[in-house]
Amino acid sequence: MNILVTGGAGFIGSHVVRLFVNRYPDYNIVNMDKLTYAGNLANLADVEERPNYTFVRADICDYERVLEILKEHKIEGIIHLAAESHVDRSIRDPFSFAQTNVMGTLSLLQAARNYWESLPEGYEGKRFYHISTDEVYGALDFDGTFFTEETKYAPHSPYSASKASSDHFVRAYHDTYGMPTIVTNCSNNYGPYQFPEKLIPLFINNIRRGKQLPVYGKGENVRDWLYVEDHARAIDIIFHRGKTADTYNIGGFNEWRNIDLIKVIIATVDRLLGNPEGASLSLIKYVTDRPGHDLRYAIDSSKLKEELGWEPSLQFEEGIERTVRWYLDNEAWMEQVTSGEYMRYYDEMYNNR
Ligand code: NAD
Ligand code: TYD
Repeated sequence: MNILVTGGAGFIGSHVVRLFVNRYPDYNIVNMDKLTYAGNLANLADVEERPNYTFVRADICDYERVLEILKEHKIEGIIHLAAESHVDRSIRDPFSFAQTNVMGTLSLLQAARNYWESLPEGYEGKRFYHISTDEVYGALDFDGTFFTEETKYAPHSPYSASKASSDHFVRAYHDTYGMPTIVTNCSNNYGPYQFPEKLIPLFINNIRRGKQLPVYGKGENVRDWLYVEDHARAIDIIFHRGKTADTYNIGGFNEWRNIDLIKVIIATVDRLLGNPEGASLSLIKYVTDRPGHDLRYAIDSSKLKEELGWEPSLQFEEGIERTVRWYLDNEAWMEQVTSGEYMRYYDEMYNNR
């Protein structure tokens, strides 16, 4: 199979590309990424020489170029992860979220439609798999309820509004044109290669550097955390066996209040660095809350377990230990990413194409 992964140089995308390249030597995996600040080919250094892997730098919003790439590589399956993904950035710059997440997804859908409808077999054997977030469902109270696949969309941030909109377009392409689509909504991911603007890598890095840890509001918001390789494994299963036009929620049944999670991170980093217990607790600084800050996310992923047998494989304690170790062991990656050096490098290399 020839598969296009969009956003494969980002956090989750790089784990998906790695899994598919290693697991399916007979597939051709084409990674199409614009290499924004969040895309980094160093995330894929271990697979870049593989014969079944190709990287193409392109913008999903560039319809003509996307169409060209689909044709050139005879793409049969698309796993769409490319997006602007950080809520705080979306509050500062909502337009770029509408542009990439809404218009970019639409451009990709339309290019896929144009290419696949031009083939004699049409949509037969094709799949458009859109990766989305639980944030489209809005926020839960502290009442023990969960987001299910039936929960109504109620996004609050420009990020989640743009993802919700893209989900609607994907479903519309199934209902209107018969495109074989699939959508999954996943909870917060954590693990290696996450850009250090997101809570977990930001805080690990700040603790290592003795910098303050900005806790929004009272630190009482709850997130449901899933190890990124478990998400990638779910994507593999759903890409191959998920029901066309269906939706699956993906989550780890692993809810943490931010402040409790932060204390676990502090304890783990201090222990691994050989600092006295609790040494970095004084770095915690409560700051003004994020506007529209969703109180609680919690995913019910029992449909995925019952229908396709997926379950998270990693206990949180092990996942967080592995994650902290990875960031501490990969200081050079962190330096490169926070210095912006890799951006200059790629711009020179690809001449801003
Ligand atoms: P990320 O920000 O780490 O990576 C995004 C990637 O997309 C980068 O490599 C970037 O260069 C690329 N990209 C951005 N704009 C592009 C464009 N116009 N054309 C081509 N490439 C472009 O994001 P992530 O955390 O890996 O998230 C990946 C996907 O998963 C997103 O769609 C996100 O909404 C979704 N998701 C993320 C989480 C999470 O916790 N991180 C949870 C659920 C769903
Ligand atoms: P984040 O990693 O940005 O993911 P999301 O907003 O998509 O859930 O944030 C996770 C939680 O941590 C969220 O409730 C906001 C909070 N947070 C802070 O308290 N301080 C920070 O510096 C960041 C980045 C996030």
